[in-house]
Amino acid sequence: MNFYYITGTSRGLGKALAEYYLTEAPNNIVIGISRNQTVFHKNYEHFNVDLGDPSQVKTLHFPPHHDAKKIVLINNAGVVGMIKPMGQLTSEAIIHNFQVNLVAPAVLSNQFMKAYHDSNADKMIVNISSGAGKTPIAGWAPYCASKAGINMLSKVVDEEQKNAFGYKFRIYSIEPGVIDTQMQEEIRSASPEDFVRLTDFINYKIENQLAKPTLIAEKFAHIIRNPEQFKDVLFSVKDVVVD
Ligand SMILES: NC(=O)c1ccc[n+]([C@@H]2O[C@H](COP(=O)([O-])OP(=O)(O)OC[C@H]3O[C@@H](n4cnc5c(N)ncnc54)[C@H](OP(=O)(O)O)[C@@H]3O)[C@@H](O)[C@H]2O)c1
Repeated sequence: MNFYYITGTSRGLGKALAEYYLTEAPNNIVIGISRNQTVFHKNYEHFNVDLGDPSQVKTLHFPPHHDAKKIVLINNAGVVGMIKPMGQLTSEAIIHNFQVNLVAPAVLSNQFMKAYHDSNADKMIVNISSGAGKTPIAGWAPYCASKAGINMLSKVVDEEQKNAFGYKFRIYSIEPGVIDTQMQEEIRSASPEDFVRLTDFINYKIENQLAKPTLIAEKFAHIIRNPEQFKDVLFSVKDVVVD
């Protein structure tokens, strides 16, 4: 059996990933984690968790899977959050952004690694990052910083695994490129005074530059299936060609 723990399965990329694995093979089990459930399948289990609430994140436990061939955690859930320059954000918005985009994936990754350290299955953590983790985008300070944080966390885990554990766990932090999801709708609804690059993002939609979530899910599945082809921890799906 293959087990895929995926956060943010109610819509967007996370839902496309869940549906990909549920149709790929009958021995795939998907465990989705988000506040709403929109996926229903005999091989799908849903954990109704608000990743913005630290106490709910702490109670999430990964059960043993003695029969597993592969166990994967995909930290996909994310929020762009309040779009405004620093100095105009609310404290709540900053805290929520780091909690969902960085604290929750870090806590889940740590719990996942504790739970499956001794498992003989192939084990992998895939963090969904963003180009915003490398490029500063005015109005997105907490989002950019949280994605830069998940990139560094992933590099540290890779360093630990390489040196001490001979890669018991593979870890990636991968930019998915721009995708046609609710997150992009939220970005387009920012006000021009708060978001200098608003027109660029409106044009991505008008010019059909936003990828379909199903296409990006296929690219992620290709990476997860062929880790030997992907030696770097950080990269973009733009660099991945699927036949
Ligand atoms: N779309 C893009 O162009 C783009 C570009 C670069 C990177 N990304 C990254 O790709 C990932 C997926 O984004 P998307 O575009 O698919 O976003 P989306 O359509 O807005 O979906 C976000 C998902 O995250 C979940 N989520 C949000 N807040 C949550 C919370 N407090 N607790 C639990 N789950 C929560 C949502 O579920 P519930 O609301 O049901 O909880 C939803 O399933 C994110 O990490 C994002 O940063 C996206």
